[in-house]
Amino acid sequence: MELNRRTVIAGAAAAGIAATTLGGTAEAASGRKPVRKLFGTLADGTKVYRWSLENGGTRLKVLSYGGIVQSLELPDRHCRYANVVAGFDNVADYVAKSPYFGALIGRYGNRIGKGRFTLDGTAYQLSVNDGDNSLHGGAQGFDKHVWDVEPFVKGSDVGLHLHYTSVDGEMGYPGTLRTTVTYTLTRHGDWRIDYAATTDKATVVNLTSHVYWNLAGEGSGTIEDHELTIAASRYTPTDSGLIPTGELAGVAGTPFDFRHAKPVGRDIRAGHEQQVLAKGYDHNWVLDKGITARPEHVATLRDPRSGRTLKIATDQPGLQFYSGNFLDGTLTGTGGRTYRQGDALCLETQHFPDSPNHANFPSTVLRPGRTYRTSTLHTFGA
Ligand code: GLA
Repeated sequence: MELNRRTVIAGAAAAGIAATTLGGTAEAASGRKPVRKLFGTLADGTKVYRWSLENGGTRLKVLSYGGIVQSLELPDRHCRYANVVAGFDNVADYVAKSPYFGALIGRYGNRIGKGRFTLDGTAYQLSVNDGDNSLHGGAQGFDKHVWDVEPFVKGSDVGLHLHYTSVDGEMGYPGTLRTTVTYTLTRHGDWRIDYAATTDKATVVNLTSHVYWNLAGEGSGTIEDHELTIAASRYTPTDSGLIPTGELAGVAGTPFDFRHAKPVGRDIRAGHEQQVLAKGYDHNWVLDKGITARPEHVATLRDPRSGRTLKIATDQPGLQFYSGNFLDGTLTGTGGRTYRQGDALCLETQHFPDSPNHANFPSTVLRPGRTYRTSTLHTFGA
């Protein structure tokens, strides 16, 4: 039986489990206004704060630096909590060596080939930070800026509005981009992300969140036994620099077929040429539902050991599934253990990588007077 969050919380109450076990940490009580604490200081003296939110049995900790989800605690089927996202316990590591752990990604999630694109006849050169290519917005992406954070309580929801203004020409992108990202924890313990952005010149934009999940608990080992479902019949194969070739290839009969729940590790060593290029899975799945007016369910991740489940709904046309291929045992996580290849995975809702250079991909152009809006909903269970 799959328990949803309400069942778990109600069951715990009936079993007489104290609120402190399930909810109420000192930093944030359930459904109450988010609480701020100093987390660290950047080299230039800027203070970085950590905001704690709690609602519906989910505990979320967010940094003003990069909008980073530093910790996300969920109960398992026995109401035992674990932090299910990879991260660090200090600011210096986030600045010096983070592979985008938990961060907001902008202006452009994933790669733009050679960091180049042409828009309305003008050629733009972006910051190149991944071989020849521009990755996740360039050398100083949205993950490396301090955001203005505004907490809120609205009805039974709690959350944070995060604001960042990227000046015209930053990392090579045209237009002043004013971005607001809203993190909401609902009374059911679901985590929703709403992105909004406006520009004063035509530009391209593709925002996402780079949370690394391990539903058995951060630092607990491999995610290869996690079962994953992705509602996509096609994906975008890449070249050796992980830039899409432009083809939309069928998943049927390949290791990329996650249309039915399958352990991540089942076909990860199949030796498919695309897996060899990426050192595992690091691809954009073309979601069957396409772009939708509202978030629709596209992926389910389940850890059979703890029973924890994550369901993702989005309005976006693509999902980047990255199996933590570049984690190499050199980073020490929040809980003091090192992360090795496959110790966490990412499911990034997005437009397709390198869209500005592929006329057959859905457009990522944003023009003045229009507002870019996208939402992703994470629903948890055990
Ligand atoms: C994304 C990319 C990967 C890798 C990670 C960060 O998911 O697709 O290739 O760069 O970010 O390490």
